[in-house]
Amino acid sequence: MAVVHDLRLAENDQEVACDVADFFIRSAAEATGGPFRVALSGGSTPRTLYRRLASAGCADRVDWPRVEFYFSDERCVPPDHAESNFKLANDTLFQPLNIKTSQVFRIESEAGQPELIARRYEMTIREQFASPSPAWPRYDMILLGLGDDGHTASLFPNSPALDEKLRAVVSSESPRGAAHRITFTVPLINHARRIVFMVTGPQKAPAIRAVLEDNTVDARQCPAKLIRPTEGRLIWSLDRAAASALTATTQL
Ligand code: 6PG
Repeated sequence: MAVVHDLRLAENDQEVACDVADFFIRSAAEATGGPFRVALSGGSTPRTLYRRLASAGCADRVDWPRVEFYFSDERCVPPDHAESNFKLANDTLFQPLNIKTSQVFRIESEAGQPELIARRYEMTIREQFASPSPAWPRYDMILLGLGDDGHTASLFPNSPALDEKLRAVVSSESPRGAAHRITFTVPLINHARRIVFMVTGPQKAPAIRAVLEDNTVDARQCPAKLIRPTEGRLIWSLDRAAASALTATTQL
């Protein structure tokens, strides 16, 4: 099935946050007959989105009790650590919206061997989705960021995690910051109904060009290239700075 590839350009990070928040709201409304299951990305970019979703203009446009929150990756740090992806979401989204802890499926990455943590999180996902292996749990939405080296989630260049074809969640090693990571695998991400990349800032422009335009770059060097939904929508929501290295043929 052809990849529906939306490239959406905004002036700045606030407008990107509004664009993705509106898409989140529309997507949640479409998820009838069950929970709206979303996996949040890590890093700092989502902060503007979380603040937008928790704002007066958005908060009452989503039936929040029907939303289940997961994480597409996590650093192996405590949940109150500055580098915790959960901490950012908890401080700027879950707490302001009074999201119940029963709706949040945190990667308990502070305790134990990374591989065991990964297997435990996969079990949690499969139980919640009632999707035993070898089926693939289908997220309604997976939010992703892009590193300036072309990584996404915690799928880093040349990582063994890039080759995983059977498991949904594995451990990986980051070349920077909190080394041990837990991450969704490429096939789990690619089975989502909607995959949304949120990318802002001039420092991401070379990686955006590598992913979206430069066919000479190998996907193992730029893992975001591996993200191609099997039967879903792939949306890139960029600000002008992040899109500034794209040629006219690609830019909207
Ligand atoms: C993480 C990520 C990672 C992140 C990108 C962009 O845990 O670090 O999930 O893939 O999305 O590195 O990070 P920024 O938004 O901070 O630029």
